[in-house]
Amino acid sequence: MEKIKIALLGLGTVGGGVKAILEEKQDLIQERIYIKNGRKVSLEISKILISHPEKYRAISPVLLTADFQEIMNDENIKVVVEVMGGEEPATNYMLQAMERKKHVVTANKLAIAKSGELLENVATKNRVNFLYEAAVAGTIPIIRTINDSLVANEITEISGIINGTTNYILSKMTHERSPYAEALMNAQELGFAEEDPGSDVKGDDALYKIAILSRLAFGEWPDLDTIDCKGITEITPQQIEDAKKRGKVIKFLARTKKAEGKIIASVSPEEIELHHPLAHVDGAMNAVYLHCDNAGELLFQGAGAGSRPTASAVVSDLFAVIEQI
Ligand code: NDP
Ligand code: HSE
Repeated sequence: MEKIKIALLGLGTVGGGVKAILEEKQDLIQERIYIKNGRKVSLEISKILISHPEKYRAISPVLLTADFQEIMNDENIKVVVEVMGGEEPATNYMLQAMERKKHVVTANKLAIAKSGELLENVATKNRVNFLYEAAVAGTIPIIRTINDSLVANEITEISGIINGTTNYILSKMTHERSPYAEALMNAQELGFAEEDPGSDVKGDDALYKIAILSRLAFGEWPDLDTIDCKGITEITPQQIEDAKKRGKVIKFLARTKKAEGKIIASVSPEEIELHHPLAHVDGAMNAVYLHCDNAGELLFQGAGAGSRPTASAVVSDLFAVIEQI
């Protein structure tokens, strides 16, 4: 049995989910690798970077490190999974890992949206994979769908609900009349929100994700400053009730399309009709609606945040990386 050693950067909501899935589903994953590649391979987490070791007493101290260079200097570690979040030092760590010929898997949409071009170039230069299925719409396999399954299509437009926290808050306010602050607190407790939840409710998180989808669909990175961004912080219970009376619902939508050679993208709360395909996507669910020239219209729905659903997408990237090792 070949062993592929992996380092996790971060052991929070997502990192904890990745560790649990790799342990619990070891046999299933090995079987799937064998069916796909004809190889007997096991994936093994050999180091985990954290900053507060005292928080992780249940984890074997042999696995833990607070020193990133320990991971860089270990030639046997072939894949680095960045699930610590934040722009820095995460971006720098991913660049260092790829310069050391380690493949990188990440869920960090902030780092990708801000430094995607650089990260992609460094990956190409070093002939390593840079994969980020978990960074957009949680468990929905939207990145692989656009990159692989829809290769024969011009994508003309994408719209969707791509932030779990805000969809959870709006759903709670709409269906249970929960106060905004209480709904946000619940979303944080459930592990859906970013470390700074302002990134969710002011729209930045969805903006990063629609920037990534724009790049994949239209071939270029949009300037983040050109994306119209309005969060949900000013949505009042009254507005939600008024929308209901008109037979509508308020949803936090992200949109992108290319018109006259320019990417036009936005994130904003919108009133939509109850028969709209996104009207009943509730809670922390996400949905992505693609308009393609050959395939037509496609709608994907699934958990947009949370430990196991996000980790499922991270593990799918690990599965893809194996072919390169
Ligand atoms: P958490 O805050 O739950 O976990 C972060 C982990 O990273 C902790 O173990 C923390 O260790 C470690 N960490 C953070 N900074 C450092 C540092 N400088 N050095 C060493 N370790 C560090 O975050 P999440 O798991 O929620 O999110 C991780 C990433 O996944 C983010 O990019 C997020 O945007 C993305 N994501 C999250 C989703 C979710 O549902 N939560 C869904 C999709 C993507 P310590 O505790 O010791 O500080
Ligand atoms: N905070 C993010 C969300 C996590 O709520 O959608 C998933 O990217």
